[in-house]
Amino acid sequence: MNSESNPPSANGCAGCRNAPKWRSDFPVEWEGDHYVSRREMVKFLTLGSLLLTGANWITVVASQLRHNPQYPEKMIGTVSQFRHQRSILFSYPTEDDPCIAVQTPEGKLVAYSQVCTHLSCAVIYDQADNKLFCPCHNGSFNILQGEPIGGPPTRRLPRISIEQRGDQLFATGVEV
Ligand code: FES
Repeated sequence: MNSESNPPSANGCAGCRNAPKWRSDFPVEWEGDHYVSRREMVKFLTLGSLLLTGANWITVVASQLRHNPQYPEKMIGTVSQFRHQRSILFSYPTEDDPCIAVQTPEGKLVAYSQVCTHLSCAVIYDQADNKLFCPCHNGSFNILQGEPIGGPPTRRLPRISIEQRGDQLFATGVEV
């Protein structure tokens, strides 16, 4: 009888007389190899739960950062500039984001993205009608909230938060 075909014994066949030499180095039988102990199962479930919890936390933190991005603080001009002009152009939060700050006839300071929400032309301040106006398709926006009030735009302009410190004006965030 071939020693390779010896039936496996309960003790791993390490003691079988005719067992090949490698049997003593690999005492685990095929059936035992597939056996998952209760301890291994608990370890697997615990690690799996920890991994899932960690992944959920990463997702929550990433989503918080996406919805509450940190904006830089940037000086955009001075209040005294409005003695000579009704609006100031600036870039915020990056140099590629044109914005406009306006002092309304009532003296209120407001600022918006200058990019029209229709097809991205630059809006300008229409002093006669006290509104933001887009010359591309005659779109217009309310000066106090940036809401569309005429033409094709349907979404309001992103508002730029500004703070006055003495004579200086700072942009501090974007309200989309
Ligand atoms: S791009 Fe401003 S109204 Fe069309």
